[in-house]
Amino acid sequence: MNRTVYQRCFAVILLIGALGLVSSYGPAPAREDWPTYGGNAAGNRYSPLTQINTQTVKNLQLAWTFDTGENNDSTKRGMDIQCQPIVVDGVLYGTTPRHKLFAVDAATGRRIWQFDPFSNPDKQPRFHPLRGVTYWNGGADKRILYSSGASLYAVNAQTGELINSFGQNGEVDLHEGLGNKETLGHDVSNLSIRNTSPGVIYQDLIIVGSSMNEGGDAPPGNIRAFNVRTGKLAWTFHTIPLPGEYGYETWMKDSYKKIGGANCWAGMVVDEKRGIVFAGTGSPSVDFYGGDRAGKNLFANCLLALDAKTGKRIWHFQTVHHDLWDRDIPCPPNLLTVSHNGKKVDAVAQATKDGYVFVFERETGKPLFPIREMAAPTSPALPGEKPWPTQPVPAKPAPFAFQHLDERTITSRTPEARAYVLDRFKNSRQGNKWLPPSEEGSLIFGVGGGAEWGGTAADPEGVFYVNGNNMLWWLKMRNTQTPSDGVALTRGASLFNTNCAACHAISKENKAVASTSQAYPNLANVGNRLDRSQINALLTTGRGRMPSFSHLPKDDREAIVNFLLHTEPARPVPADMHQATNTLDTAPNADFPYVSPYLNNGNIQFRDQDGYPAIKPPWGTLNAIDLNTGEYRWQVSLGEYPELVQKGLMNTGTENHGGPLVTAGGLLFIAATYDQKLRAFDRKTGKIIWEQKLPAGGFATPITYSVAGKQYVAIACGGTRYGLKSGGSYVSFALPSSSIN
Ligand code: HEC
Repeated sequence: MNRTVYQRCFAVILLIGALGLVSSYGPAPAREDWPTYGGNAAGNRYSPLTQINTQTVKNLQLAWTFDTGENNDSTKRGMDIQCQPIVVDGVLYGTTPRHKLFAVDAATGRRIWQFDPFSNPDKQPRFHPLRGVTYWNGGADKRILYSSGASLYAVNAQTGELINSFGQNGEVDLHEGLGNKETLGHDVSNLSIRNTSPGVIYQDLIIVGSSMNEGGDAPPGNIRAFNVRTGKLAWTFHTIPLPGEYGYETWMKDSYKKIGGANCWAGMVVDEKRGIVFAGTGSPSVDFYGGDRAGKNLFANCLLALDAKTGKRIWHFQTVHHDLWDRDIPCPPNLLTVSHNGKKVDAVAQATKDGYVFVFERETGKPLFPIREMAAPTSPALPGEKPWPTQPVPAKPAPFAFQHLDERTITSRTPEARAYVLDRFKNSRQGNKWLPPSEEGSLIFGVGGGAEWGGTAADPEGVFYVNGNNMLWWLKMRNTQTPSDGVALTRGASLFNTNCAACHAISKENKAVASTSQAYPNLANVGNRLDRSQINALLTTGRGRMPSFSHLPKDDREAIVNFLLHTEPARPVPADMHQATNTLDTAPNADFPYVSPYLNNGNIQFRDQDGYPAIKPPWGTLNAIDLNTGEYRWQVSLGEYPELVQKGLMNTGTENHGGPLVTAGGLLFIAATYDQKLRAFDRKTGKIIWEQKLPAGGFATPITYSVAGKQYVAIACGGTRYGLKSGGSYVSFALPSSSIN
């Protein structure tokens, strides 16, 4: 470079630097909203704001707290807040742990209105995660759409009142469009369904997915679009194809009558220009056993590109064939633009639970990096199972989460922990991430994320940001029909085994016992705490993460209660459960609810004997991947265990739930970790430049916005995860007014 060019470059750099400084310390745009879950329709979790930036972030301070007034009672187990709120016209909309929808002034946190779905006495309070709400603007008519239980509500964004002309008195029943006795052979109207992630808007449609039980009583995971003005069903996409439809042949002939799921629970994104909605689906029910759904099982575990107007499939890509590991697509896709072979390409990137990032050309579904079908073990470990012989693996980027457990990966935190884990390792099946589940049991990664529901971020340069978990899972199957001691189960024990034991554990001797996770109460002596009518009531309503079992016939529920209260007559069930179901008048379809001959045993995350991850760190990571090249910019550990830091074990990373936010100010904000901090990283280098302990764990994704020239960063602090205390507030940070001029 000759000297004059050098000098000119230098001058330009100085000028850019100076401009950067001006904008960084000057006012933010009068108003910059965060109008959509994920920040924009493309789901980038990216903001053009620069007032808070790599230089100013150190001055960040609490601007306001909005206390929902819930989760404060330490005697009650709280619900977490997974909600990433939205901001429109300077108003922040979000949800409380107990499903109230609220509007607060985004500059002060002062409440404007609140809507409570349970003020309707017909609604049974039943709480499940809620990750966000949807805004729709029809001129003077501005609406917030959100779900609680099986209802999708339309609420006036200005007043908080239900819009009665939408659906039935302001709500749409999410059972609509799932099918009926004629199409499925059974009724779905009583089955548990909800929508934990918000729907997306395309023109006058709201497009929604669903979440459901992942057992034998799951309805199909159809994706639906409703008219946002009237609530009328506009289209349905069958994620489990009916006879005659494309993909039907990837299942057994009658699978659609008994298998549900294949649902999009993590949310969608929209390419508004092209009119394409992108959705990722989960595994088919039941998780972990596929003997009654032999085949590839389209469109479970797929990234789907659908015509947003009609719901017609444009293309799909299946990330796991014939899923036997609950490897749902765990987060919304992300629409970004990259340079590929010298050309700008509009791409869609999908992160997975097992740590892959698949990148496709948006219109055609053509992969940007080659994807190879790798051989997977095919010898079944359970009768009836036919594992699929290959599974897709992208050549690039390299996975951001661990893939296979081997001895070197096992924890060496303490000699005792290592011995404890090695023992389990040596007494289980090993060696491959696609080992079919067995009664012997295996230790595998990727049953939970990898990527999780907090989502991923992307900047305009084509860099993709994803936080990852390296958690080990103990996957062990049990026969639900012939218990190990050969004595036939009582009816209550058998029903408990099929419906309850995945969370509340059952022993080999068929007694209710403590689960390996503290999240689930031990029901061994539940009779000392609750009486018959209390347990019955709980089974019909559900509570917190405990689902409702109102769809079970009444005498099934009674048999379960008798089992729990040890008042069950010793009446064995026939060895064939299908037969048993058949004899009930309440079960007209012998196929449904589907009774799987095998289910997984209890809660299956596997930790060492002190409760720490059973492998060497990093246990949680944050990753910046350049999707122009498929190469990593950086990977760092995310989070710490304060008590391990005290012992000198730092930078381990922790399990993390809640996603990243990136800004033009050069920052990446993320909370999500066990240490309950909100952190700002330099998004170019992965260095932490600011951190702040939150009032409770921020297990949600932060947002940023500006009001009256001031930029804010806000996050929900619901706590409650990982055995931590619960919280019930939203907090918002900003620079002190003195440093903004
Ligand atoms: C998806 C996991 C899950 C399943 C499946 C499940 N439960 Fe629960 N259950 C929970 C959780 C979580 C709680 C604690 C709820 C709370 O208060 O937050 C709970 C609480 C309970 C309690 C109250 C315990 C106490 O000490 O207060 C009873 C009784 C109970 N469950 C019975 C059942 C029965 C019977 C079934 C099967 C029909 C079942 N559960 C299925 C997760 C589950």
